[in-house]
Amino acid sequence: MKNKNSFFICLLLICSLAQSTFAQSGRIASRAEKGMVVTSHYLASEVGNEILQQGGNAIDASVATAFALAVTLPSAGNIGGGGFIVYHGNDGEQTTFNFREKAPLAATRDMFLGEDGKIKANSNHEGILSVGVPGTVAGLYKAHQKMGKLPWEDLVAPAIKLAENGFPSTHYMNSFLEWVKDHKDEELYKATAEAFLKDGQKIYKQGELFKQPDLAKTLKRIQQHGADGFYKGETAQLIENVMKKHGGLITKEDLARYEAEELKPVTGTYRGYNIVSMPPPSSGGVTLIEMLNILEGFDIKEMGHNSAEYLHVLTEAMRRGYADRAQHLGDPNFNPQMPVEKLTSKEYAAKLRETINPEKASVSDSANFSTAHLRYESPQTTHISVVDQEGNAVSMTYTLEHSYGSKITVDGAGFLLNNEMGDFNPIPEHTDTKGFVGTDPNLVAPEKRMLSSMTPTIVAKDGKPLLVIGSPGGRTIINTVFQVIINVLDHEMNIARAIEAPRIHHQWLPDITSFERYGISPDTKVLYEAMGHEVKYITNQGQAMGIFIDAEEGIYYGAADSRSYDGRAVGN
Ligand code: DON
Repeated sequence: MKNKNSFFICLLLICSLAQSTFAQSGRIASRAEKGMVVTSHYLASEVGNEILQQGGNAIDASVATAFALAVTLPSAGNIGGGGFIVYHGNDGEQTTFNFREKAPLAATRDMFLGEDGKIKANSNHEGILSVGVPGTVAGLYKAHQKMGKLPWEDLVAPAIKLAENGFPSTHYMNSFLEWVKDHKDEELYKATAEAFLKDGQKIYKQGELFKQPDLAKTLKRIQQHGADGFYKGETAQLIENVMKKHGGLITKEDLARYEAEELKPVTGTYRGYNIVSMPPPSSGGVTLIEMLNILEGFDIKEMGHNSAEYLHVLTEAMRRGYADRAQHLGDPNFNPQMPVEKLTSKEYAAKLRETINPEKASVSDSANFSTAHLRYESPQTTHISVVDQEGNAVSMTYTLEHSYGSKITVDGAGFLLNNEMGDFNPIPEHTDTKGFVGTDPNLVAPEKRMLSSMTPTIVAKDGKPLLVIGSPGGRTIINTVFQVIINVLDHEMNIARAIEAPRIHHQWLPDITSFERYGISPDTKVLYEAMGHEVKYITNQGQAMGIFIDAEEGIYYGAADSRSYDGRAVGN
C-alpha cells in the first residue's frame, strides 16, 4: 500500500513537472539550437537548413527554400505565382516584401463577364485569362538584394540540382498527375503533360525519379541574371509566346514593368505580445489583428479550448473581421483611403465587441457589412517558416492560387502559371449570400494587385521573435493563423499541439461555420447550433507551418502540420 502511494505521488510529481514546462509538453515538436526551417516538403526544408549551416541568414534560407519548393512541390511552390515575406530580426528590425501578382496592362474591370453579366465559363479561375503577372522571382530577388548574406547563385543552385537530377515523386504529386493525364491532349495543357508526366503520357509511380530539365534551364537563367533572368530575355519571350498562342493578355512589357515592393508591416498587440503581419494587398494582417483585438476583451482561456461558448465568440470575431475585409480591403496603390488604422485599433474592436451577444449568433447580411460568405478554397498555397542562428525570423507564404495554379505550363520553360486573377472581385457591385463579393476596392484594373488572404505572421515579445506562423487555405488562412496564435498564447499549447488542434472557419458569408470532421465533439456542436449557428463539416483546414522560439533556453521548436503530406521541420 505504501509502495502504491509513493508510486502515485511520483506520478503526480512527474505530471506537475511536465506542466511547468507547458510550452513544450504534449505533442512533439522538432528541436534545434542554431536554425530551423519548416515547409510543406522535406527536401525543401533540408535545402533551407543547409543554407543556414553554410552561414546563410533567414532571408537566404527562405530564398533557397522557395526555389527548392518550386521544384519539389509544383502544386504550390512556384516561380510563376506570387506571395509575401514578413521579416522580424532579433534586433527588432521589421519589414515585409510584397510580390503579389498584378493584373496585366490590358486587363479590364469586366473582363470575366459575358453579355448576361455573369462570369463567362469560369474564366477568372480557369484558362489563360486567369493568369496574373508573376511576382515570386522579383520578390525573392528584392529581399535578397536588401538583406541576403550569401551569393544569389548559391541560393538558386540547390533547386537547379533537384530539377536536373530529379527527386522521388510522391503520392501527393501523383494525385494531380491524374488530372494532367485526363487533359494531356488539350492544346492548352500539352506542355504541362510534357513537364509532369513520364514521357508526356504516364503517371510517375510513387518513388520514381521525377526530373524537370526545362525548369532547370529557367532556374539557370535566374541564377545567372537575377530577376532579369525571368522578367526579360528568353523566359519573358517564352511567357509571351504562351499568351499569344492561347489569347492571353500578359506581354513582355507587363513582365519588364513588374516590381516587387518593400512595405511596412501591419502591427498590433495581443495581451502584451506584438503581432507583425502582412499589410494590404494582403487582407491577412489587418483581419487577424482586428479579430485578436475583439478577442482580447474575453476571458477565452476560462471558456476552455473549443467549448461551445468559446467557438461562439471566435465565430463572432471572424464574422466581423471578414465583413470588414470584404468591404474595405484591396491593393493600397489603388485604394489610398483604406481605413487600416481604424480597423486595427483597440477602440474599433471595443465597439464591435459590444455588438456580440454572448448567447446568440448575429446574422451575416450582404446588404449590411458591419453585421454582415465567401467561396471556400482549397489549401493550395504554401508556407515557409525560418529562424536563423541569430534568432532572425522569416514568415513567407506564396501561391499559384489553385492547386497547380492555372495548370498551364510555359512551353520550353517548365514552370506553371498561376490563376490568381480569380482573387479579384469578378462581378462589380454584386455581393451575395452565396459568397460573391463585388466591392470596389478589389475590382480588376490594369497593374492592380488582387486581394490576398495569405497571412505570414511573426509574434514578438520584448522586441524579439517568439512565434513564426503561416498556412495555405485561401480565405481560411487568416482563421488558421488566428487559432494557432491563440492556442499558443492563451491555451499555452506547444507549437506542435497548437498546429494539430482542430480548427473552425467562418468568413461572414456564407453564414456557415466549418468544423474539421472528428475534431469537435458532437455535444459541443449541439450547444453551438442552439445559439443559432449553422455548421458544416470539412476534412482539413490549412497546413500550418510554425516555429516557437524559447529564447531563455535557446531552443527553436518547429512543427509541420500533419495535414500536409510531405511537410517537415528540419533544424540544426
Ligand atoms: O492569396 C490568396 O489568398 C489565395 N490565392 C491563396 C490560395 C490558397 O491558399 C489556396 N486556395 N485556394
